[in-house]
Amino acid sequence: MRGLFITFEGIEGGGKTTQINNVAKQLHLAGKQVLLTREPGGTLISEAIRQILLSKDLPPMQQDTELLLMFAARAEHLHTKILPALKAGAWVLCDRFTDASYAYQGGGRGIAIERIEALEAWVQGDCRPDYTFLFDLEPKIGLSRAEKRGEMDRFEEETINFFNRVRAKYLEMAQHDVNRYRIVDAQYERPQVQQQVNQFLNKIIEQHG
Ligand SMILES: Nc1ncnc2c1ncn2[C@@H]1O[C@H](COP(=O)(O)OP(=O)(O)O)[C@@H](O)[C@H]1O
Ligand SMILES: [Mg+2]
Repeated sequence: MRGLFITFEGIEGGGKTTQINNVAKQLHLAGKQVLLTREPGGTLISEAIRQILLSKDLPPMQQDTELLLMFAARAEHLHTKILPALKAGAWVLCDRFTDASYAYQGGGRGIAIERIEALEAWVQGDCRPDYTFLFDLEPKIGLSRAEKRGEMDRFEEETINFFNRVRAKYLEMAQHDVNRYRIVDAQYERPQVQQQVNQFLNKIIEQHG
């Protein structure tokens, strides 16, 4: 039986990486086989593309280059790692996926959504996540957490206005697909955020055995 594909989305500092580790732990305890991975990245080639995408040592990039590199990394990751794991019955937890392209390159940078839809159809066919946890919070709070975490990457140095557009795009997608998205109010302290995540997760486990 195919495993479940669960993605973790939201702006910087929402707690995606913190909570994906918590979810992996809960699923292990529930006896599930788990693959924990991230985008851009997840394979040697895709991680090399990630270096290009996040580097501040390179000159600024054309926004189409950024979008195409994201999908190049995704094609490699999806076909060599995610789909084989799902087929083998694993629950795949991915820290960011295609929603991030819609939110950052679409909402944030202003690339036409039709272009992103075309790449999604090309690279993924009809493969979509089963569930998406969206960590929603004010960019001001998220960025101050990300700042404390350490050195900022190329995206993390964007303006509050950019992150407001990214956040709005994420919320718009979530409102249009309530079956897939689970919106986590990520402004709270870690235990409260974790409690929301675990409640959603327990229902998903119950439903899928
Ligand atoms: N609920 C929370 N409240 C305050 N700080 C948090 C919370 N969750 C995570 N953090 C811390 O904030 C930083 C960003 O969290 P992280 O999980 O890396 O977010 P993301 O992966 O969404 O950018 C990390 O240093 C993390 O330890
Ligand atoms: Mg993270």
